[in-house]
Amino acid sequence: MKIAKWVVREHVEGVPDVDRVYEKVVENVDVTLAPDEMLLRTLYVSVDPYLQGIALDTPLGGHMGADSIMEVVRAGPRAAHRVGDLVQGFGGWRTHVVSTGAPALWQTGTFPMVFPAYRRLDPGWYDDALPLPTALSVMGGPGMTAWGTLSKYMTVSPGETLVVSGASGAVGALVGQLAALAGARVVGTTSSPDKADYLTGLGFDAVVVYRHGDDTDTVREALVRAAPDGVDRYFDNLGGPVTDAVFPLLNVGSQVAVCWQWATQVGNETTGPRLLPYLMFPRATVRGIFSLEWFTEENWQSLHTELGGRVRRGEITFDHTVHRGFDSIPAAYGSLYDDRAANRGKVLVEL
Ligand SMILES: NC(=O)c1ccc[n+]([C@@H]2O[C@H](COP(=O)([O-])OP(=O)(O)OC[C@H]3O[C@@H](n4cnc5c(N)ncnc54)[C@H](OP(=O)(O)O)[C@@H]3O)[C@@H](O)[C@H]2O)c1
Repeated sequence: MKIAKWVVREHVEGVPDVDRVYEKVVENVDVTLAPDEMLLRTLYVSVDPYLQGIALDTPLGGHMGADSIMEVVRAGPRAAHRVGDLVQGFGGWRTHVVSTGAPALWQTGTFPMVFPAYRRLDPGWYDDALPLPTALSVMGGPGMTAWGTLSKYMTVSPGETLVVSGASGAVGALVGQLAALAGARVVGTTSSPDKADYLTGLGFDAVVVYRHGDDTDTVREALVRAAPDGVDRYFDNLGGPVTDAVFPLLNVGSQVAVCWQWATQVGNETTGPRLLPYLMFPRATVRGIFSLEWFTEENWQSLHTELGGRVRRGEITFDHTVHRGFDSIPAAYGSLYDDRAANRGKVLVEL
């Protein structure tokens, strides 16, 4: 059978030039399954900013990894899932995958990690309110990142001020809504007035328009106006000047979650102001977020019940920006960098 995949053909630092980085390869594959293997058909593929680092760490010629939803079309007698099952896993930018679905060690990366075993999606969890692709958004990794941070590390109390940078995306929009429901004053950053209106519609109290490269003093002044009582909680999705501006505003007992550092990873800004003195007097706590640690059966169940319940009750909304067709995957991914105006919430591709 013919299997198509996008492979990494060049390592390009900084903002990915998808035409240079990716090449489509179609192979004629004789699929003979081992007893514990499955042939899976990819239904949805997720595109995420962290793939910039994954692409740089992928050996040239290797297929591009990514979170995906797949359907089992053939299965060996000892396979983990059965024909017709829907699973979520790190299947990558491939039309079909032959795999056991076992956890996979990713050791070429700068930080070794394990991609979890393919997770069977309970069909009873998905309906009109939470359609299947939410397994890649509010009911998937982004949802687990937001919900996990706010239920396992960061406490939010009424009256506190929470700042979330890069707030219009899948993770930030959820963090902001959850914090608003907890009674916080929520301040977000996003790169356009249109998206600022979008965040206001989601319940954000104030929005700072910021795009990488903007002047640090301007961001600082805007944040001081948006958070006049200082910052109690900071969910950092961007790093760089926004973080430089937030740290001096941290209040006593504040908490910081470091989810992503766009400025360092993509913007290649490896130096900046010394921020540690700003942690000392406010006795602030900083914690790195690595959401894979929360990918357990128990947490998926809780995510489904708690965050899913809030979506069903209309307390939380989510958005998807869906591209269609296998060939559109690199462009969909490129839209996270070059053409973000139309993106709302999770960006994915339906194959
Ligand atoms: N640590 C973890 O375990 C973990 C887990 C999941 C995700 N992440 C990371 O967390 C981040 C958020 O994830 P997501 O799913 O919400 O991503 P997303 O939907 O693509 O949202 C990314 C956000 O970053 C902003 N952004 C992108 N480029 C920017 C630039 N040049 N200047 C200013 N803002 C920029 C976007 O702002 P505008 O659209 O407003 O321009 C958007 O709000 C991602 O970087 C992701 O890789 C980390």
